[in-house]
Amino acid sequence: MQKKGYFISSEGPEGAGKTTVMQLLGKKLNEEGYDVVMTREPGGIMISEKIRNIILDNEHTMMDSRTEALLYAAARRQHLVEKVQPALEAGKIVICDRFIDSSLAYQGFARGIGVEEILTINKFAIGKTMPDKTILFDIEPSVGLERINAHNDREKNRLDVESLSFHEKVREGYLSLVDQYPNRIQVIDASRSVEAVLEEVYLVIKKELEVIR
Ligand code: TMP
Repeated sequence: MQKKGYFISSEGPEGAGKTTVMQLLGKKLNEEGYDVVMTREPGGIMISEKIRNIILDNEHTMMDSRTEALLYAAARRQHLVEKVQPALEAGKIVICDRFIDSSLAYQGFARGIGVEEILTINKFAIGKTMPDKTILFDIEPSVGLERINAHNDREKNRLDVESLSFHEKVREGYLSLVDQYPNRIQVIDASRSVEAVLEEVYLVIKKELEVIR
């Protein structure tokens, strides 16, 4: 079967600005006539948003790390079959705020469950559907967390309030994934202005889209 659509995921630690930049990218591509679906994980559809609320609830401090990993994988599965795959089959560009690499970096690496174990449960959840391109917004965790704290209106969830050393491990995990998936994951220096980061991400994605269209 001929592959249709184009699947982009964005990754990075808290406060890297990925959501803002990818929203602007989606808008720009839409204006150019591309059919773009913006979505996020965990969430994007009703069932997965409900799972998101369970995972991120600040009261759920007793949640076991494997329970957490399974819930992310469950939310991912439902979101994939209900929203991502139909959009790709319809030839759309899907831009997803976080996908499997978040689980590999946060649960596999930072929580210490192991990247291979997390990969196994996620393969059960997603089968062969992987992003065509992943943009990794790289930033020093201390700078990212400072950015979050500067936004007093932003709600701080159960993972935001983890220690700096946890977020440093997340970053280390992400950077090790770049070695594992060098063709898929593109690292972007997210410490710069939104405009500068957007420009770079735009050039990367446009190049990819020109190859397939
Ligand atoms: P968000 O703040 O980017 O919406 O993401 C919610 C949090 O969930 C964020 O701290 C990253 C975390 N997360 C994981 O730990 N594993 C995952 O698989 C995903 C998708 C998110």
